[in-house]
Amino acid sequence: MLKRSNSYSYSYGRKSNNNLKIFGIIGLVVAIVAVVVFLNFNRIRALVKGYNFTQANQIVAMEGEAENEILASDFMEHFDIWHDLEATPVNYDDYEKYYELFQDYQPSEIVSYVDELNGEIYSQLEELGFDHDGIWAMVSNSASISDFEYLIDNKLSATQIAPYLEVNGYMVKNMKAYIEADKTNNNPTYTVGITNYPFILSTAEYSGRGYTITNPDEILTLVKAGFYLDNSYEPGDLVEAPMPIAPDCENPLVRQVVADALQQMYEDAKAEGLSLVFNSGYRSYTVQAQTYQDIETRYGGLYASQYVALPGASEHQTGLGVDLTSQSVVDGTRITFGDTAEYKWVLANAAKYGFINRYPESTSDLTGIAHEPWHFRYVGAEVAQEITDANITFEQYCLENGILPTVVAR
Ligand code: DAL
Ligand code: ZN
Repeated sequence: MLKRSNSYSYSYGRKSNNNLKIFGIIGLVVAIVAVVVFLNFNRIRALVKGYNFTQANQIVAMEGEAENEILASDFMEHFDIWHDLEATPVNYDDYEKYYELFQDYQPSEIVSYVDELNGEIYSQLEELGFDHDGIWAMVSNSASISDFEYLIDNKLSATQIAPYLEVNGYMVKNMKAYIEADKTNNNPTYTVGITNYPFILSTAEYSGRGYTITNPDEILTLVKAGFYLDNSYEPGDLVEAPMPIAPDCENPLVRQVVADALQQMYEDAKAEGLSLVFNSGYRSYTVQAQTYQDIETRYGGLYASQYVALPGASEHQTGLGVDLTSQSVVDGTRITFGDTAEYKWVLANAAKYGFINRYPESTSDLTGIAHEPWHFRYVGAEVAQEITDANITFEQYCLENGILPTVVAR
């Protein structure tokens, strides 16, 4: 018993010693790990964010504001680019943001833009009431450094220009003009449109080269002198107009959506005893140029300029503009479509099918084209109804609703 008891207590004593040792070792390891973690806290944060060892070391080496800024931001995919360029580390997050917005820019261009913006310019903009989001909203709208300098030089405050920043397509360097014009217009959307593109209302003398439309397939794209279609533009869904086509018609194609609307309109008119005939639809740039020349030769330059759009500026090239006539004109019992019962019916009903009479009476100062009873433009039923009810031109509708084509200068 005694022996046993001794051996028991002996063995117990050895176990207890071992446990102490283990706890000691664990404690030491934990302490070492804690020290290592403490000393490498930011390096570990960088690694956890996704940076590799080299990058983590580069971040830690920055210290201070730059280090904190980078660690507070999401992982920066282009970290190496900025680091290799020896760009300003506190701006890395803004370089990333800019690169996401404008992938086509060279990194060195991004660096100089952001560095310049984040210097003196930024604080001057803040003095004018702009905050970070507001400044970056302008950046994402392609504001240049000289745009910001324009705001600063003209002391234009965030409050003053806020209404125009809401309008798609605003141009920073037109802000003073917007403020002035809007005193009369009281409609920032209209003001931005007409100030950017005064030629929309053809009363304005316009000598510029104009713009090339970059969204020609859009149903509501405004096409006229100043807003030109590319020479090579041709709609992708042209079909033959599904109604009687005039014997001398050489341009029987329209866009599918127009064909569907025409078919319905033709059938409904027919049901009322009226015979509509299709006279002209899609005309390519080249055909429009020939048309202009033919009319000029036959009727003179003034007439051509009043009744035929310049090549590139014709709705016929969109496949959305159509010239209508009637069987009576085809047969020769009526001289012009404007004198027919069909014309009266179309004028009263076109909107239901999505068409507007594009060049109404007494609007040539706005449209730039003389009254054409025969020319209808497809805009969709809702818009056609709104334009017809308000008795306005397509130009006015586009300006009031800020529906302008996207463009590049020619
Ligand atoms: N006749 C219209 C204006 C055109 O040529 O497009
Ligand atoms: Zn026409």
